[in-house]
Amino acid sequence: MIQPADDASREFPTLTTTGEATQLIVDGKPCIMLAGEVHNSSSSSLAYMEAEVWDRLVDLHCNTALVPVSWELVEPEEGRFDFTLVDGLLAAARQRGLRLVPLWFGTWKNTWSSYAPAWVKTDLDRFPRAQPLPGKNCGAISCLCDAACEADARAFAAFMAHLREADGSDHTVVMVQVENETGLLGAGRDHSRAAEEAFRQPVPQQLLDHIGEHEAALHEEFRWLWRTSGRMAAGAWPQVFGHGADEVFMAWHIARYVDRVAAAGQAEHPLPLFANAWLVQHDNQKAGEYPSGGPVSRMMDVWRLAAPHIALVAPDIYLPNFAAVCADYARPGNPLLIPEARRTEVAAANAFYAIGQHDALGFAPFGIEGMPADDLLGASYELLAHMMPVVAAHHGTGRMIGILQGDEETQEAELGGYRLRVRFRGPIEEGTPPGGGLVIATADGEYIVAGLRFAVDFLPLRDAPQNVDFVALDEGTYHDGEWVQGRRLNGDEYRLVLGDQPCVRRARLYSYA
Ligand code: DGJ
Repeated sequence: MIQPADDASREFPTLTTTGEATQLIVDGKPCIMLAGEVHNSSSSSLAYMEAEVWDRLVDLHCNTALVPVSWELVEPEEGRFDFTLVDGLLAAARQRGLRLVPLWFGTWKNTWSSYAPAWVKTDLDRFPRAQPLPGKNCGAISCLCDAACEADARAFAAFMAHLREADGSDHTVVMVQVENETGLLGAGRDHSRAAEEAFRQPVPQQLLDHIGEHEAALHEEFRWLWRTSGRMAAGAWPQVFGHGADEVFMAWHIARYVDRVAAAGQAEHPLPLFANAWLVQHDNQKAGEYPSGGPVSRMMDVWRLAAPHIALVAPDIYLPNFAAVCADYARPGNPLLIPEARRTEVAAANAFYAIGQHDALGFAPFGIEGMPADDLLGASYELLAHMMPVVAAHHGTGRMIGILQGDEETQEAELGGYRLRVRFRGPIEEGTPPGGGLVIATADGEYIVAGLRFAVDFLPLRDAPQNVDFVALDEGTYHDGEWVQGRRLNGDEYRLVLGDQPCVRRARLYSYA
């Protein structure tokens, strides 16, 4: 069982922001979630989890598991709650020293209401559906359905109250995801009766005031939408947002709905909450071809305003341009968390990169139980777990960068008073892990380099003495945050090269004229 160590550690898990850095604090210490998300159906059976999942999470050195908890199984009959599964998940996670992030599959699961209880699904009068076309119901409950929002909020509140009772002192649960990949597919907006009525209303003044006051800080695509429609300070949705009106309208109403659910839960147990996004797949996609109104980056400003109980919106990254998506989501006020990612050979490099470049709160390949026990992610997580105090100490300092192989053979960055030229081995190939890692400048000319499949040359900055050399190059490892010295590499191995297995090097430099 995870024991709180002192008074500070008895506080509930929380997000704290100091300067540029936001950290998840658990039991008084920063926690980076080296995580995996289980397949949708796995956590609906404790026996299945026992047989197929928990041990794989341990094999892969995960410290956190993201597990679905569905409304239908928690409240099978209205007002009758059953937390047997939740208690079983808590017990099994604790037994293995794992933290949990429950995923509340409530009104939305990938835009659909497939995890709503039968008593909700089958009562279309009380819980009207979204209508992509007027008069045509779909499998998603309308975000304008007040009764569904109230029922979902009541169930989520009961779940969070149970967590407080069952886990208030253990802190096994560190964050909670509210709903899953919200938005509407098949049309830009809902055309149900309530939605039509809401669409005829003017854009809420709160949203317009926010846009006017924060114009420079808005996501560039959202700002562009508003500017090209004439920077209006009042008006109807189509007037203010032009061709983007349907999506902004949906984002506003879905985020408000999710926030009501989140607020009800947080009133019972004040854990940090987040919402995840099904991303826009390519530039020419229109809202409705991807979920309209979900927390895609261009709707981030709407979500942040309409859903203040949601601490951050998080990308599910299955796209190949991992670094670009990270940069799009890691914005002031929205720390990066990746609740879903590809579980292929790219996972290890992506984990290092997100944590090194963006101080990510966590990283989780989806379907973690489908990864081989000896995947490179496991060795990477093991290394990162032991390095965690060092990594956390450099959050927000500007002295840590991430490395991720792209199309170019080399990449350059300035750090710690030198220019770093990172070289990769040959072009990226499917089936071969890309190079990736992180570099920390612990002082000027002193570096920790961790990761796999890249080399670093250190070069002088302009106007600095032109000869750069190692004072010492060391191999070693970390144990509970402390460096454990291995071989000194000042002879034939005098080059900073990270091989196929995740590893760490320390380098001290000097320069002379
Ligand atoms: C994204 C969803 O959020 C997950 O629950 C799961 O359905 C995956 N897609 C499957 O790839």
